[in-house]
Amino acid sequence: MVYDFDRAIDRRATGSEKWGPFEGRDVLPMPVADMDFPAPPEVTDALRRRVDHGIFGYAQPTADLVATVTGMCAERYGWKVEPKWIVWLPGLVSGINVTCRAVGMPGDAVMTAVPVYPPFLTAPRNMKRDLVTVPLRCEGGTRWTFDWTELERACTPKTRLFLLCQPHNPVGRVFDRGEIERLAAFCRERNIVLCSDEIHCDLVLDDIPHVPTAALSPEIAANTITLMAPSKTFNLPGLGCAFAIIPDPKLRAAFNQAKAGIVPQVTVFGYAGCEAAYARGEPWRRALIRYLRANRDRVLSFVREELPGVETTPIEATYLAWLDVRALGLEDPVSHFIDHGLALSDGRFFQGPGYVRLNFGCPRETLEEGLGRLKAGVDALR
Ligand SMILES: Cc1ncc(COP(=O)(O)O)c(C=O)c1O
Repeated sequence: MVYDFDRAIDRRATGSEKWGPFEGRDVLPMPVADMDFPAPPEVTDALRRRVDHGIFGYAQPTADLVATVTGMCAERYGWKVEPKWIVWLPGLVSGINVTCRAVGMPGDAVMTAVPVYPPFLTAPRNMKRDLVTVPLRCEGGTRWTFDWTELERACTPKTRLFLLCQPHNPVGRVFDRGEIERLAAFCRERNIVLCSDEIHCDLVLDDIPHVPTAALSPEIAANTITLMAPSKTFNLPGLGCAFAIIPDPKLRAAFNQAKAGIVPQVTVFGYAGCEAAYARGEPWRRALIRYLRANRDRVLSFVREELPGVETTPIEATYLAWLDVRALGLEDPVSHFIDHGLALSDGRFFQGPGYVRLNFGCPRETLEEGLGRLKAGVDALR
């Protein structure tokens, strides 16, 4: 089948978190991480069939769905997941918060490397844990990686949990096996549980492998809570379906206890979308990756050639570009670009002041419009 990613669909007046706030204004929204593409037709067909059934009762994952997820982990990543390790969730942010609640006690510390997806920074405090952040290092100005000296320095006996984003939102790195093995060893030596948010793992744009953290060794698996979802890859975040994979029975019991009575069930649509996406969405995903790769290349060359004072680093995964605009000397870069008709995510919420994040998960024409507005904002400063 040929998939048309060029077709722009009007998302105004659809209750979109991304488009809603700017309705009635000439502002192109490129912040919130969903894509302006329709879901794979294979998913829409499955949802239509589910609607036609007409009964939308309480749901549970079917054996077929569980087999689809374990099959996906085995085929794509060589990771043998046992069905009982899977805990279903209506969203991955819930999983991050539940993890913070399940591990350690109030007053303990949760560590993460910044900049990072903002819920990593709010979840520990939601659960009365102290937040400890350690900046990622940008080696040679091109490669974001962990700062091992600072991680060691920041660690205390109260540090019980590390929140890892792999692949990384917003810097776009796919950390390699060596980096993740070292981080996993760092955690195990200090009795720190590792939570590996791998929601972007099926959006690797370059020919590099994503290795699930827990697939590295049984010892690492026993100390890891993995969080995954079809939502970023297949553009289904509004369906609300994600899952944790927790091999260790004690850790899994603590996680289930922490979510009991608070986290609602996944809906019939969430499960139906998830199964269709993983079971039949692979040709669409491959086509998407090709499209995103071209968008990514366009963003990188545009920044290099057209935007003096803006820097970025290679983007190995995700549809998000992390732009360093510090040299522009703007006090509030997001407001400045909104004044030029473009909405971006504010780096301050990621603990990355002076940066903005641009979402290039959109038709090429929309991207060109956004890049033109970005340039207008930069040129206005000359
Ligand atoms: C790293 C990461 N985790 C989680 C989420 C959101 O997950 P959910 O919508 O399932 O709560 C996002 C969305 O951008 C993300 O980038």
